[in-house]
Amino acid sequence: MNIFILRDEEQFVQTGASLISGLLHTNPRATLGLATGSTPIGLYAKLIEMNKQGLVSFSQATTYNLDEYVGLPENHPESYRTFMNEKFFNHIDIQIERTHVPNGNAANLEEECLNYDRMLEEHGPVDLQLLGIGHNGHIGFNEPGESLTGGTHLVELQEKTRTANARFFPSLDDVPTHAITMGVASILKARQILLLVRGEDKAEIVHRALKGPITTECPASLLQCHSNVVVLLDQGAGRLFV
Ligand code: F6R
Repeated sequence: MNIFILRDEEQFVQTGASLISGLLHTNPRATLGLATGSTPIGLYAKLIEMNKQGLVSFSQATTYNLDEYVGLPENHPESYRTFMNEKFFNHIDIQIERTHVPNGNAANLEEECLNYDRMLEEHGPVDLQLLGIGHNGHIGFNEPGESLTGGTHLVELQEKTRTANARFFPSLDDVPTHAITMGVASILKARQILLLVRGEDKAEIVHRALKGPITTECPASLLQCHSNVVVLLDQGAGRLFV
């Protein structure tokens, strides 16, 4: 595992963007696993800038997002499909039909999960999976517990996660209670994983995940089982690694 503590925001996003653009230069048809949340926004902005400057192209790339809320209309301002379109896809040369986000409004959510896994099997493995980490150690929406699920599945969001995400909704009651998420096995199938963590408030959980015991009580700790993980930490998140 390669853990880097970056000096400032510019170095943080530049390092992540270089990894992704490097991959696309070597393999323009690469499959990217993408995440939402506040952490990757700066990285997406940097990639948009590079795309506009002709330094990287997504024209042949395919993307799969980790997760989506259940029950929010696709065009709801807080749906992950809207997030990805607005923060990234609408501003780059990607073919929108090559971008995939689980459909949290599917009539049959279990069928939707199976279909998502089928697509990942057919078009995978993901070449680079971008991840953030939740304060409770979740990756995607794989919440801590006695067991974890391998494939894409329906999950009930924990109170801690709903509270953390309430900042994007009018009130806690408006935060969906369920989501579809890729499972830990699907995530770990990626050839390379790029974990981004920023903020003092994530210092303890990221240290526990990467240096503590491997346990389902901290889903991100399973990343220790993967042979090609790059971790980018800002000064705050990297506090306990120095
Ligand atoms: C988002 C996702 C989540 C976030 C995590 C961190 O698609 O799967 O696991 O990566 O909750 O979120 P932020 O970056 O908002 O702190």
